[in-house]
Amino acid sequence: MTLRARIALLTTGLLLVALLVLGVVLHGLLGNFLLGSLKRDLVEASAQVVRLLNLGGQALLEAGLPADLYAEIQLVLEEDPALLAREGGISLQRSPALGAHRLLLSQEAYRALLDRGEVWTEVALPREGPPLVLLVYGRKVEVRVGGTPWKGLLLVGRPVEGVRATLAQFARLYAATALLVLLLVFLLLRPLLARALEPLEWVAAKARTLVGPEGALPRRIEPLPEPLVQDEVGSLVRALNGMLLRLQKALEAQVRFLQDASHELRTPLTAILGHVGYLLRRTPLTEAQRESLEVVKREAERMGKLVSDLLELSQTGSWRLEPAPLRLLDLLEEAQEEFSKSFEGEIRVEASPDLWVLGDRDRLHQVFANLLSNALKAGAKTVWLRAFGVEGRVVVRVEDDGEGIPEEHLPHLFERFYRVDKARDRARGGSGLGLAIVKAILEAHGGEIWVESEVGKGTAFSFTLPSAAPPPPPP
Ligand SMILES: Nc1ncnc2c1ncn2[C@@H]1O[C@H](COP(=O)(O)OP(=O)(O)O)[C@@H](O)[C@H]1O
Ligand SMILES: [Mg+2]
Repeated sequence: MTLRARIALLTTGLLLVALLVLGVVLHGLLGNFLLGSLKRDLVEASAQVVRLLNLGGQALLEAGLPADLYAEIQLVLEEDPALLAREGGISLQRSPALGAHRLLLSQEAYRALLDRGEVWTEVALPREGPPLVLLVYGRKVEVRVGGTPWKGLLLVGRPVEGVRATLAQFARLYAATALLVLLLVFLLLRPLLARALEPLEWVAAKARTLVGPEGALPRRIEPLPEPLVQDEVGSLVRALNGMLLRLQKALEAQVRFLQDASHELRTPLTAILGHVGYLLRRTPLTEAQRESLEVVKREAERMGKLVSDLLELSQTGSWRLEPAPLRLLDLLEEAQEEFSKSFEGEIRVEASPDLWVLGDRDRLHQVFANLLSNALKAGAKTVWLRAFGVEGRVVVRVEDDGEGIPEEHLPHLFERFYRVDKARDRARGGSGLGLAIVKAILEAHGGEIWVESEVGKGTAFSFTLPSAAPPPPPP
């Protein structure tokens, strides 16, 4: 999961929890408020009834109370909650809202009322459909019947339907609003997060371009431009730049070491070769001595080649290419001519004369020389040098019918010092640096190289070069 998706999910989740908590709290507060005012209402109504009773009037409930108040006055002759719950006290008066119904409390409610003098409870009045639920306030009162005071109970109730409906309506509205808010936040969050995380992706993209194809580090590592804001991205870039600087230093030290070592090795090698040459040419030698000196000479020459290859490779990246439009056919024929002398087989050139490439003549010659000498070393009888243009580029193929390369070696062929058969290739005078140099040269030209091969059939190296327009003819 991407960081962006995770942040979006987390934020939306947190918001959901916050909205839920807020909803529950608001629902509770609203419920309390509504029930509270209903209770105040009932207490007031009961006080009014008591006032009317004290006035001593008889038909008071009909006259003095709001029509939608459910109220009943019950006379209690025997304080037995079970009996009361079954039959109620003797009903003295009932408000019109009750109609034929009676307000009968539960046994516990009657007991509490008788014990404590007042009670809050709920009563369900039967009617069509679901029963009507009333919130009922009961209190003890004194009623006078024929001048004698009796113990009575006053019950007043109001439907809680309204409160419940209001609460349900609130819950529905709140849920809808919360969902809308969530959706909006989720939709807005994505582009906002994308904007916020843009610098990170930019850093990643920059870091990716630093590392060349196949993870090869370029010679020069440029530090990333530091963002102006002092935020996390800024400190990431600074940390990355510190690392890059150290990497660059290590790289430079490595190149310097390689160059120094190659230079230092050259001097003794030249001396060895000079003296061996002198001994071989100018001094009387026994056959055994001559043979030994020939070996010394051959090995010193090979080492000389190795050293110059190393030097060459260490300079990749600092090469000064001098690209110019070159007729590819000329390059191929030049290589053909040079190698035909040292080769019994045949080198065939197949390329159109109007293929032009943009390249450095000497470096490209080095490429052909390396590929051709590899083909010869592989025992090729025929080598084909072919070229054709494709989409603004020129593809060159060097094909041979030599021994071929086993498949498992193909991915490593362009690595430094990689040889298919160490002992055999060493004996053939190889260092394993040739193809690494070829690849570096071609990449410096903006091209790429790949290989196909089959054991026993032959090998084909193909590479691309940028094509060029032919230079204008001289006036
Ligand atoms: N045309 C080819 N046919 C068969 N094997 C090849 C060919 N080109 C290269 N190779 C193998 O790839 C290895 C690496 O080549 P290269 O980098 O030029 O090193 P070397 O210095 O050995 O020539 C060689 O040792 C050889 O075994
Ligand atoms: Mg080679």
